[in-house]
Amino acid sequence: MQLSTLKAVVCPRCAGTAEPSPALSIDATDVEPQYAKEELVEGIITCSLCEQQYPIIAGVLVIVPSLASYFRSNYSSIIAQACACSTVSDGMIDYLIRRGFHTGRSDARDYYSSPRKVSTYINGGYDNLAGVMDSSDSLSNWFSTEYRCFYDEMLTMCLDSKASLPNHLFALDVGCYVGSFCSRIGRSMQHIYGVDMAFGGVLAARRIHFETPAPLKEYELFIDGSRSCKRSLSTPLPISGDFVVADARALPFRSGFFGFISSLNLLELVKHPREYLSEIRRVGENGASVLITTPYYWEEEEVAVEEWIENKLSSADAVRELLCSHGMDIISEKLHVPWVLRYNSRAYMTFLVHALLLCLAHETTRNDL
Ligand SMILES: C[S@@+](CC[C@H](N)C(=O)[O-])C[C@H]1O[C@@H](n2cnc3c(N)ncnc32)[C@H](O)[C@@H]1O
Ligand SMILES: [Zn+2]
Repeated sequence: MQLSTLKAVVCPRCAGTAEPSPALSIDATDVEPQYAKEELVEGIITCSLCEQQYPIIAGVLVIVPSLASYFRSNYSSIIAQACACSTVSDGMIDYLIRRGFHTGRSDARDYYSSPRKVSTYINGGYDNLAGVMDSSDSLSNWFSTEYRCFYDEMLTMCLDSKASLPNHLFALDVGCYVGSFCSRIGRSMQHIYGVDMAFGGVLAARRIHFETPAPLKEYELFIDGSRSCKRSLSTPLPISGDFVVADARALPFRSGFFGFISSLNLLELVKHPREYLSEIRRVGENGASVLITTPYYWEEEEVAVEEWIENKLSSADAVRELLCSHGMDIISEKLHVPWVLRYNSRAYMTFLVHALLLCLAHETTRNDL
């Protein structure tokens, strides 16, 4: 965690309730803080109001409201991924074990921290899809002449908008995963914060952008079966901000903090999509620009069918209606933006994404009109 992040984040349990939000501070009682330049590589921060503690492991702040359940579902994979690129101290391991965080459920689904998933998204966000295939491959021509990287397309949509993006002080990407969109939009913002529930994704984003706790200069590209090869990653242009583990339904930020918020391809994965939209609305300032995209890839294992946002007309109409009812006015939209994810040399998944650029007006402002 960058030391400056301590001023930006607030306790997600107290964020919406206490105004002004209580301070978080570094607490050396249980775990000795480990620093490297402007980074807190390991340590604990505590909320001055509810006294909830949040750990920083391998530089990744985990600031979710129900820590025990998060760790119990992800403990082994968090420790394995942290140890692969950093040191996790005995003090930190003792601390987690004393709280029973290591007693994981064996059936926990840690889908987005799997190496293959991380590789797929690093490939889609930082590599060149045409560049990883043989030029004789039947898809190669389409990738090199027709397909434009989804994240570049979304950046252009934001930059082209009449409401254009002023150089906002604080911007947020919800469900940032390995940081592909932060990497682009972050260049137009003074500080960009990316949040995601996948520890492995946040760790990769930090390693790619801040080169901490160890730089990520290459990634594993899967070929077929268990075969893979190394692909080098070039260092992206610098951005300022941070990537943290946080839940889209309990964002660790003050109300009205952000001038720009994006959330790409998350709506249909969040257990309670309406709570997630309410949180986006809460942390956006009046007039904030919001980019929401969705491929409408609803799956019963992720979200109960009763929570799916659809009506008799279409999902697109239902989502437009819902966003408007959350105080978001549509500035521009694209109905079918191609988004390709490469799983291996024979498996590519293509979505046609609905992208909406919106302007946030809070209830009070709207009522005042
Ligand atoms: C389909 S991926 C999209 C990632 C990225 N926005 C992109 O478009 O490349 C969905 C992401 O949402 C994250 N996610 C799922 N539920 C979440 C939640 N409740 N809060 C924050 N992130 C969540 C997953 O870990 C995953 O990284
Ligand atoms: Zn608190």
